[in-house]
Parts: sequence; C-alpha cells; structure tokens
Amino acid sequence: MASNTTRSILTGKTYFIRTFGCQMNLHDSERVAGLLDSYGCFAAADPAGADIVIFMTCCVREAADQRLYGQCSSCKSLPTPPSGKRVVAVGGCIAQRDGERLVSHVDNVDVIFGTQAIAHVADLIADAFEDGGRHVDTEEGAAPAATTLPWHREQPFHAWVPIMTGCNNFCTYCIVPYVRGREKSRPFESVVDEVAGLLRCGVREVTLLGQNVNSYGRDAYGAPRFAELLRAVGETGIERIRFTSSHPKDLLPETIDAMAEVPAVMPHLQLAVQSGSTRVLKLMNRRYTREDYLGLVDRIRERIPDIALTTDIIVGFPGETEEDFEQTLSLAERVGYAQAFTFIYSRREGTPAARIEDPTPREVIQDRFDRLVKVIEQTAHDFNQHDLGTTVPVLVEGSSKKDSRVLQGKSPKNQTVHAPIPAGMDIESLVGRIVDVDVDTARTWYLSGTVVGDPR
Ligand code: SAM
Ligand code: SF4
Ligand code: F3S
Repeated sequence: MASNTTRSILTGKTYFIRTFGCQMNLHDSERVAGLLDSYGCFAAADPAGADIVIFMTCCVREAADQRLYGQCSSCKSLPTPPSGKRVVAVGGCIAQRDGERLVSHVDNVDVIFGTQAIAHVADLIADAFEDGGRHVDTEEGAAPAATTLPWHREQPFHAWVPIMTGCNNFCTYCIVPYVRGREKSRPFESVVDEVAGLLRCGVREVTLLGQNVNSYGRDAYGAPRFAELLRAVGETGIERIRFTSSHPKDLLPETIDAMAEVPAVMPHLQLAVQSGSTRVLKLMNRRYTREDYLGLVDRIRERIPDIALTTDIIVGFPGETEEDFEQTLSLAERVGYAQAFTFIYSRREGTPAARIEDPTPREVIQDRFDRLVKVIEQTAHDFNQHDLGTTVPVLVEGSSKKDSRVLQGKSPKNQTVHAPIPAGMDIESLVGRIVDVDVDTARTWYLSGTVVGDPR
C-alpha cells in the first residue's frame, strides 16, 4: 500500500501495544509505536479504548504462548472502538514461528508480522482496516531493519540500542535462533552515531542489545569488535553504558579491559551460566565448562573487584540429576550473584533438547527450583550489604509503586534504590536526573537511604 493511503487510513487512530519477552521485543515495540506515531496515530491507555491492539510475543517458554492466546481471545469481548473496527495484530517471535498457523489458536487476528517485518507493520494494519482481510508478513530480510525507523521511547533518559540481531549459538534448549535468524551486526558507525544523537536528545543511559554482544563484528571480516565499540560509545560522552547479553564462551580479555577502563561502562555484567554442571552444559551446547566459567569470573573480578554479576539459570534440563543440580547451587554461592533470572526448563518443539526423554518428576524439579531461589536470595542479600554506609549515584526512574513520596532509581551496579523525595522537590523534576543517596538499608532486592546534595 502507498504510504499516503496508509496515512489517510491510520491518521487519528489509537493503538495499544502489550509486550512480552526480552529487551529485543521492548525495543521492537518502541519502533512499532514510533512508526504508528509517524502515521498520525496516538497511544491509548488500554486495549478497550484502542482501534489497534498489538501483541509483541515471545516463545522462549511455553507459558508465554498460553498467555498470548488468552489475551488475544479476550479482545473479542472488548467494546467496539469509536472508529467502528478494531484491528488485532500479533508481532514478535510467536508470529515469526507460526505465521498463518497462529489462527488455529486464535481466530480473531487480523495482522501477523514477523521479527523482520516491523517496517511493514503500518501498511499491513492499514490493509486490514481497508479490506477486512488477514495480512501476514513473516518473510526474512524483506523489510528494512527496525533500527532505521522512527522511535517512541518509554523513558526519555534511557535508550535500548540494538547492536546486532539474531543468534548463531543454538543452545539445545533455545528457540531464539529459529525465530530471530542468524547473527547480523549493525555497522560500527551507525551505532556510535546513534548514541551521539541520543546524547544530544537528552539520553543519559544506553543499553546495547544483542543475544550475544560478545560476538559483535564477527560476521564481517576485519570489522571492529565489541571492545572497540564499548570504547567508541564511551567517547561519545554518554554517561552510562550497559549491555546485554554476554555469552561466557566469547567474553574476550580486551572486553574486560574496556569495561574496566571506560568510565561510563557500568560495573554490572549479565553473564548467563544456565547450569553449574559441566555435564549439563555440554548437553546444552554452551561450549564452556564449570571451571571455564569460574575462571572467567575470577579474571573479571581481578579487573573490576566490586562488579555486580547477574545470570540466567535453567533448572530441570532433561536428565539433570541431583548431583548436577547441586553443582549449580554451589556455583551460584561461589560466584555470589547480585541477581539471577531462574527458569524451569520448558520443552520447545523443534529444538534438539525436545527430543531428550526426561523421567524426572515435576515435583522434584519444582523443589530444586525453590532451593535455587533461596540460594539466590541469600547471595543477592549478601551482595547488597557491601553498599551499606556508602553513597551511590542513582539515576531516578520514577516514584516507588508502594509510596509516591519515595523516589526509585538504579545504582551503577543496577541495584534498585529507594529514597524519600527531598523536601521542596517533586518526582517530575527528578526523573532522568542523578541523585546521590547515602545508603542506610540493604535488603535482598533493593537499597534505601537519603538523598544528599543537589540532583544533576
Ligand atoms: N542470549 C541470551 C544468553 O544466552 O544469555 C539469553 C536469551 S534467552 C531469550 C533468555 C533466557 O531464557 C536464557 O538465558 C535461558 O536461561 C532462558 N531459556 C531459553 N530457552 C529456555 C527454555 N527452553 N526453557 C527455559 N528457559 C529457557
Ligand atoms: Fe538462546 Fe543460547 Fe542464543 Fe542465548 S545464546 S539466545 S540462550 S541460543
Ligand atoms: Fe522471547 Fe523472542 Fe526475546 S522468544 S526472549 S522475545 S528473542
């Protein structure tokens, strides 16, 4: 459809986007919103008031599939919007995986767009309004990359910056390489220029995104690698740099050096371990051993002693024994994670691990999961104690959900920090600013204290 026709159909319509899954989807949703804004649409506060309802989906675990089917179906009982018709669109990883087959689970979907079709979403939605038919685009590489599209950021002071898409690692449990395609790095200058532009627009913190940022540049012979990118992004003058995710097998010494030497790189590293057992890691195709991982942690701590290490762990990979699991517990204690995202293994059709039989009863896996959560709560609690009595610079994100008189933000180590809003200040004037907080309380999942000095 020509863009003028798309514009005349979409102008004035309202949209609501619900996002599931990882930061890639969050960023893709911001691009979809930016694109719709550029066609004259407006964001709605809820699906009931929206002409266009979009679900950005995730299929990394089975529960995410079920949630989508429920939410899509519930759109059927919403009141008709003022324009007389509602278009329901499904994007993201389930859309990419299932395409047209998605309608066997949910029949009220008008538009299905894959992970590489974001640039086409406005046209697809306009087509659905015009002819009432179903429109599907899950072709790989057909549309321009989402990074060239307009952008509607949730937080004006923070930006997600994809530096690469796809994944080449094929961990045996994981669906991501099948729905996001092969690794493709964004050109170095395009990333650095984007961060410089964001800085000019008032952004203070960027999070560089990739399924494995450590393989940045590997797909183009002689191209600069991740360590060089960190240094160049640091030279733009942006105040805080974060990145995720980092595969342990590819974390090079020069990247650790860059993290230690570039002041804007925050002292936090998400380093997914998945299991503490070398036997399970081999079955997972992670390509490092328990000893490799622990050696890497030691090398990182030598250069950045106070770094916050966080991780992802899967419990109940097919055939995991009690002994394997105890190796995971002891590794978590030894590393002293500041936080961990813990998951019960979910069988994903089409992945190699889905073919492995597993006799372990569900209750045994649940019990292991609960034991792991307890260990992580302890390591997180212990980690936070180090900051008692110190002053931490906190980038303010908003007020605390529990008490509107308390501000909430993030420390350099990515800890959540709370502090009463100082007398004479309001939260609107503090969001996006950095305040120093004297920490007097350190709990498992947050620090709290008192603001000292002026916000900056
Ligand atoms: N590329 C990132 C990395 O390797 O660090 C991870 C991306 S993945 C979207 C996020 C996490 O989901 C993984 O680290 C893993 O712990 C978890 N995950 C992936 N597939 C899973 C499965 N089939 N069952 C349970 N958890 C899974
Ligand atoms: Fe999945 Fe492994 Fe790729 Fe991460 S590195 S996205 S866990 S295949
Ligand atoms: Fe989910 Fe796709 Fe991210 S499967 S975790 S939304 S890459």
